[in-house]
Amino acid sequence: MNLTMEKLTSTDLIELEDKHGAHNYHPLPVVLAKGEGVYVWDVEGKRYFDFLSAYSAVNQGHCHSKIIGAMIEQAKTLTLTSRAFYNDTLGEYEKFVTEYFGFDKVLPMNTGAEAVETAIKLCRKWAYEKKGIAENQAVIVVCEGNFHGRTTTIVSFSNDEDARKSFGPFTPGFVSIPYNDIDALEKVLENKNVVGFLVEPIQGEAGVYVPTEGYLKNAFDLCKKNNVLFIADEVQTGIARTGELLAVHHENVQPDILILGKAISGGVYPVSAVLANDDIMMVIKPGQHGSTFGGNPIASKVAIAALEVVRDEKLAENAQRLGVIFRKEMQRVIDNTDLVVSVRGKGLLNAIIINDTEQSKTAWNLCVQLKENGLLAKPTHGNIIRFAPPLVMTEDELMECVSIIEKTITEFKK
Ligand SMILES: Cc1ncc(COP(=O)(O)O)c(C=O)c1O
Repeated sequence: MNLTMEKLTSTDLIELEDKHGAHNYHPLPVVLAKGEGVYVWDVEGKRYFDFLSAYSAVNQGHCHSKIIGAMIEQAKTLTLTSRAFYNDTLGEYEKFVTEYFGFDKVLPMNTGAEAVETAIKLCRKWAYEKKGIAENQAVIVVCEGNFHGRTTTIVSFSNDEDARKSFGPFTPGFVSIPYNDIDALEKVLENKNVVGFLVEPIQGEAGVYVPTEGYLKNAFDLCKKNNVLFIADEVQTGIARTGELLAVHHENVQPDILILGKAISGGVYPVSAVLANDDIMMVIKPGQHGSTFGGNPIASKVAIAALEVVRDEKLAENAQRLGVIFRKEMQRVIDNTDLVVSVRGKGLLNAIIINDTEQSKTAWNLCVQLKENGLLAKPTHGNIIRFAPPLVMTEDELMECVSIIEKTITEFKK
């Protein structure tokens, strides 16, 4: 293929990726070239509703002018200093983000997985230096079905065979219990070496599993009782996605360690963050953790703008309101079809469960058909399709999306 030739088609571009890129993803066959608000366009100019939002990173909508403006302005001025020197934006961001979420301190990183790694290190160091656990004995409790990223340590405590197989040896120090099982948590906390409980308030990647009301609060209380840190991974559920600024706010929980990523930048730049109070965060001293790009000037300005948009445009309220409408509409569709069994979710993080086996291609084929009809979504696991549009969506747009989904389901032939 001659890349200097005139405009490449979707087929050309898919071929190009297949040939030169690692095959570590299996994308839907659509090649996007432009995004604005709730819409994306492919290279042939066809418009789609984005119903994935880059796994909930683009909560503020594609190319939000305020966030892009902040990025361009800063990019023209100063991009990266490393943390070898101070710069004139990081402190402003640190003050802003800690006040925004109600913590003493923030540790800035770039990706979600890095932030999870940071939280694990922070929890372990706190355990040895504050809780008095013997060196190398700290145990962090995680949940079955978790998804916290792709690093070697993180896949060590995944129970997804695709994520783990042939990537060992694994990092020790983690114990897995069933999700949404408070008795299992109570039991595991009898082990006095347990120092942290790392949990997703809703398991997104696993298929949008919403725990029973009260689970997070009870888990938090149990952690407090046992002097164990409650670590909330809100990389996917945070920043207004579930109808509150944080999903733990539905149960009035303020975690000991908060992990954020994705939409903290509105999806325009890799920004992640770990927040905690001084008694925890101050165990990390110079040279013990960091990242060249973490907290860089562009990231700082972008994150401030992205969080201002969430607040000023009342995105949590919108997600809450539209989520109720969406699930009600999906239930109406489900009542009239055998193809879909149920809908579940919170705010605008939802999933429908297809009436077929985990191994079947039905959910995938339905997503291909949704694409043909102008809406982009993807299966999470096997027969589950996640629906997570940008939170700037209006009710009229949502109803248009409901019509597309309804039409696709009604006309679908297995
Ligand atoms: C809950 C959760 N934690 C961590 C991550 C990892 O984030 P990243 O892909 O930015 O490393 C994800 C990504 O989907 C996630 O959903």
